[in-house]
Amino acid sequence: MTMIDSSPSQNSGAAGEPSAVRLETDGDLAFIVIDNPPVNASSVAVRSGLLDAIEGMSADPNIKAGIIIGAGSTFVAGSDIKEFGRALPPPELPTVLAAIEACPKPIAAAIHGAALGGGLELALACDARIALADAIVGLPEVTLGMIPGAGGTQRLPRLTGIAKALDLVTSGRRIGAREAAKLGIIDHVVEGTSLRDGAAEFVRALSGKRVVAELSVPYEPEETIAAAEQNALKSGRGREAVAEAVKAVKNAAVLPVREALAEERATFQRLRNSEEAAALRYNFFAERQAGKLDGSAKARAVKTVGVVGAGTMGAGIAAVCAAASLDVILVDASAASLEAGKGRVTAALTDLHRVGKLKAASAEEAAGHVAYANDIAALAGVDLIIEAVFEDMQVKTGVLQRLATTVRADAVIATNTSYLDLDQLAEATNRPQDVIGLHFFAPVHRMRLLEVVRGAKSDPAALATGVWLAKTIGKLPIIAGVCEGFIGNRIYAKYRAQCEFMLEEGALPRELDTAMEDLGFSMGPFAVSDLSGLDIAWAMRKRKAATRDPRERYVGIADQICEMGRLGRKTGAGWYDYSAGSGRGAVDPVVTELVQAESRKQGRPQKAFAKAEMQGRVLGTILNEAALLLAEGIARSAAEIDLVLVNGFGFSKFRGGPIFQASRKTPAEVDAMVEAAAQATGFGFRRGDVASLIAGVGN
Ligand code: 3HC
Repeated sequence: MTMIDSSPSQNSGAAGEPSAVRLETDGDLAFIVIDNPPVNASSVAVRSGLLDAIEGMSADPNIKAGIIIGAGSTFVAGSDIKEFGRALPPPELPTVLAAIEACPKPIAAAIHGAALGGGLELALACDARIALADAIVGLPEVTLGMIPGAGGTQRLPRLTGIAKALDLVTSGRRIGAREAAKLGIIDHVVEGTSLRDGAAEFVRALSGKRVVAELSVPYEPEETIAAAEQNALKSGRGREAVAEAVKAVKNAAVLPVREALAEERATFQRLRNSEEAAALRYNFFAERQAGKLDGSAKARAVKTVGVVGAGTMGAGIAAVCAAASLDVILVDASAASLEAGKGRVTAALTDLHRVGKLKAASAEEAAGHVAYANDIAALAGVDLIIEAVFEDMQVKTGVLQRLATTVRADAVIATNTSYLDLDQLAEATNRPQDVIGLHFFAPVHRMRLLEVVRGAKSDPAALATGVWLAKTIGKLPIIAGVCEGFIGNRIYAKYRAQCEFMLEEGALPRELDTAMEDLGFSMGPFAVSDLSGLDIAWAMRKRKAATRDPRERYVGIADQICEMGRLGRKTGAGWYDYSAGSGRGAVDPVVTELVQAESRKQGRPQKAFAKAEMQGRVLGTILNEAALLLAEGIARSAAEIDLVLVNGFGFSKFRGGPIFQASRKTPAEVDAMVEAAAQATGFGFRRGDVASLIAGVGN
């Protein structure tokens, strides 16, 4: 095989740097190898390298056909998303695809790993697609706030039909090579030989060009298309990218292909520059950083997980581990608790099966990964233990001490505490190096966030094990340091308190909830309290009452609501009235009266709040606490704090996160918001360096 560097002109960087694309010849075939680690994203260097290579193989009379293939672990993961925040440097991808189609010799794509977004569009512009069985393909652009921009909406329906293309383009779903072959996207799945050899054999047998853009769209009954459209619009309700994707795919059946391609490109360019796309890109890169640890520590090997406490959290944790096919031993002292825990595990696994998140074929099969025991002694051989017993220092200390002397010396011991001092708990075990926090959010099988808490003495390998577990069970790990409430609950406590201050100044629960929902939270704080129950926070306030500084502003309205027996949805009433059954809950005049009476009693000036003012006070509060968390080293970056609020507290990912939102405002606007939060809080407000926090968002 001969290797020719195909990309001297524009694509190589400094002299001696490897090219992003090289041309290798094998007899009468040209292999166009894309080599742009880590994922062969189609950057400007790749695009210009491809153009040069296509020109090179076209001009070589000995070459009959070409095969585009990826070096390393994947074909092409898509366009280089890093280029999307500014004007795209030429040549743009459609120019490359046009060159493939115009080349008189057939060119095939040989796919391993992933062909996503622009990667699949590159393959669709080829005359044939060959893939390894474990390759995946998809058009995930809508998940980045855009539509495909290089022909995906026009070439895909010519292979699959409009209805299937609507499903794939509007969901961004990734599918395996075999499913793609059934749909006509992949022409041949290689088995029993290497991708190169399989592709070479297939291409040598090709009779000539097959330009997908020139095919006609297969006929489908109108009702089939209408049903697919309805489905797409329903799941992507309110999302411009989805509505535009539907329009673009449907264009394939009615517009001349070149016109439809131009329209697709124009929509892609407009959406690429939208706020939603910027927010989703920010999230995409933040998520990639989130699971990375400083240093080279490797996770300890884990095959069996022990969970102590079969309550809501413990059973949920056991279920998500079993869903990922990890063996679990769930321990609880009482037979009745174990029996109830088993019911919770089954319910969670059934739900996970319903949404397609089980590794096993059925909930029963996954449930087979969980064994039950009534004594901690059963955990002597496990690799990782997560205690999820009652949130009380004495109770947790007792359990952890027992665990420390029971489990193997190389086992990792994790606590699911939400508020207790992890370092104090770790010291009590006499093996603090093995102790980390794994702070799950309820309901465990639904919530993606997992705060992996680093104690002062946690061994980096123990921490790496926590991150490994999070990824294995499909959670998003966010590393947090030790403080009360870690990242999420600490911010949330301040946010809630700020909302309660506003209650005392004339705002009502529904007004505040609506303002917070418009800001980006899926539910306002009072609706959330009703859903999760008011009693846990009430108990915590009572515990802290004795040590609370009397100069701190404290709003007693929530306590009075609890004293009335209104503990949220589970009691039929809380901040709202749920007597009419399920649903949002009705504004209750009893609560309105209580709020107003308490406000009068405090003698605070009353006013009608504008929505922007409520939002500004909350945003100022969140930003300030986030800045403190960053400065204290509890959180590692602004983007990770946004990920916590998006994945654990229901802030819309389409808006990036509160800090991302603040980064779109002027420094004067941000200062005013923080100042308003500070004024309202009064005594005890510590100011954080919000400007540095926002600078970290990196716009
Ligand atoms: N552009 C730029 N960088 C990318 C990238 C892309 N499309 N896809 C992945 N990367 C980077 C990641 O940021 C990460 O970088 P880092 O190591 O510096 O942090 C590195 O590649 C590895 O990524 P992952 O950690 O995600 O690796 P995995 O092996 O877990 O997953 C993957 C690989 C499945 C390819 C996953 O990265 C992925 O889903 N990528 C995004 C694919 C995508 O959305 N493509 C569509 C782009 S939009 C487009 O193509 C527009 C077109 O229509 C014109």
